[in-house]
Amino acid sequence: MPKRYISNPDAPFIHFSQDAPLVAVTAYDYPSARLSDEARVDIILVGDSLGMVVAGLPDTTEVTLDMMTHHTRMAARGVENALVISDLSADSYDTPDAALASARALVDAGANAVKLEGGLGQLEKIGALIENGIPVCGHLGMLPQRVKEEGGYKKKGKTDDEATHITEAASALQDAGVLALVLESVTAELAATITRNLTIPTIGIGAGMACDGQIRVLHDLIGGFPWFVPPFAVRYANVATDTRDAITTYCTKVRNRENT
Ligand code: KIV
Repeated sequence: MPKRYISNPDAPFIHFSQDAPLVAVTAYDYPSARLSDEARVDIILVGDSLGMVVAGLPDTTEVTLDMMTHHTRMAARGVENALVISDLSADSYDTPDAALASARALVDAGANAVKLEGGLGQLEKIGALIENGIPVCGHLGMLPQRVKEEGGYKKKGKTDDEATHITEAASALQDAGVLALVLESVTAELAATITRNLTIPTIGIGAGMACDGQIRVLHDLIGGFPWFVPPFAVRYANVATDTRDAITTYCTKVRNRENT
C-alpha cells in the first residue's frame, strides 16, 4: 500500500512525493531556517535540541515553552515552503489541556504542526490536539526529554520486549492520527519493520536508512557544535572551525592595529 505522506489541503506549500524520502532538519532562527528552506528541505523542526546546541544546557529537559515559541517565531519568518514543526517542551504537556494551550502558542508563533515525545501515555493529549485542528508528529525510541530517567542516550529496540513496546506504540500513535513519526536511535531492523507496518511516514535519526525520511540536527550537519557530536552524525561542513578561525584572524588584526 502506498504511504499516506504528510498532506494538508489548506497548506499548498506542502508538496511531498510518494517515492522520494522526506528530508527534515532542525532550525532555530531566521537565517538557519531560511537557508534550510532555500536548500529545499521538506520539514524544518524547531527542535528542543536548541536547549543543547544553542542555549548551552546539558540536555533538553530544562527547555521551556517560552524558549520554543521565541525560536519558532524566528524560524517561521524564514520559511516559505517547508512544513514547520515545533517541539512541545518537556514541561508543557503534562495534561491534555496543557498540551492544547502549549500547542496553540507554538502555532500562533508560526508552527504548522507540533511534535511530542512518547507512546501510549500520550494518546489522550494527541487526541486533544488533533480534535482541535493541530497536526501532531510523534516521537518514539530514545526520548531525549527522558534522558535522566533512562540513564543516557541509549539505542532502543535491542530486546524483544522493547521492540514490541515501540512497535505497539507506533501503531497506536498512527491510529490516534499523528501525521508522521520520528524514530530516534532505534535499531535499523526495528525502524525498517515499523516503517513497513505503518501507512504514515517514519522519519529516522540514528535509526538506519529504511525510514521514509531522515532528520538531523543542523549543527551536526554543519559542524556547528563541536563539543558533543552524536555517533551517527555525518558532518558536511565545519562551521565551528571556520568561525573560530575568522574570529582569531580578526583578533590578531585588531591587536596588530591592522586594517580590519
Ligand atoms: O529536538 C530535536 O532536534 C529532535 C530531533 C533530534 C528529532 O527532536
